[in-house]
Amino acid sequence: MNEDKYDPDNPMHKSRKVHGRTFVKGMSQRQFDLLDDFLPKVALDVDLLRDKGIEALFDEAKAEYCMEVGFGGGEHLARQARENPDIGYIGCEPFQNGVAKLLIEVEDDGIDNIKVHADDARTVLDALPDGCLDKLFLLYPDPWHKSKHNKRRFVSAENMAQIARVLKQGAIFFVASDIPDYVSWTLRHLMNDANFEWLAEADQDWLLPPQGWQSTRYERKAQRNGRKSAYMFFRKL
Ligand SMILES: C[S@@+](CC[C@H](N)C(=O)[O-])C[C@H]1O[C@@H](n2cnc3c(N)ncnc32)[C@H](O)[C@@H]1O
Repeated sequence: MNEDKYDPDNPMHKSRKVHGRTFVKGMSQRQFDLLDDFLPKVALDVDLLRDKGIEALFDEAKAEYCMEVGFGGGEHLARQARENPDIGYIGCEPFQNGVAKLLIEVEDDGIDNIKVHADDARTVLDALPDGCLDKLFLLYPDPWHKSKHNKRRFVSAENMAQIARVLKQGAIFFVASDIPDYVSWTLRHLMNDANFEWLAEADQDWLLPPQGWQSTRYERKAQRNGRKSAYMFFRKL
């Protein structure tokens, strides 16, 4: 396989209706092999999820179920899964290079509590039953700076309605962003939403990373460029 060539007939390279890149050159042969051979073993079965519920995805019942939307290179997701083997994780990321990075960690460390959806998280949200998730992580969603592109932002009325539906009562929706306009956009959406309560009581509750925080590639780049992050916890009411 030519590693640099986008192949529209290869299902792993297919173009998706997610705004942003799905695939770029620069993956190693091992990463291609992982996408071809290993991903099917850890891939989330959307039909199974829709038909039998979240418990059916994992070999054994889990104490909690969590999801990360747009996990990038998967640093945060892999660490969560390693530290909490009794929790079942769903990770969604359409960017194939990121998926391949996560798969290296999953294979090397024998992580067996992540189901990977290498595509649009909205498909998984649609398939999830009501009130089944304990936590949903959204770390550094694509900012879509131009106002004419704001409607592409993952924090939207439509996605918040779905997230409210799939979270248990008392569950946590966590959003990190380094873009001031996205932070105020998120607070505007969530604070005007009767389904959510923002948990910050003081500046340190949202302007400092939570204890034991796993930084991500995107966050490190933001820090190098002098941008500070906000870490926002919302409780589903
Ligand atoms: C700015 S990057 C941040 C990646 C990672 N969370 C991090 O902190 O390094 C945003 C990511 O969200 C992913 N993304 C965008 N829309 C998505 C969607 N509808 N479902 C799942 N992931 C999505 C993109 O592919 C991209 O990898």
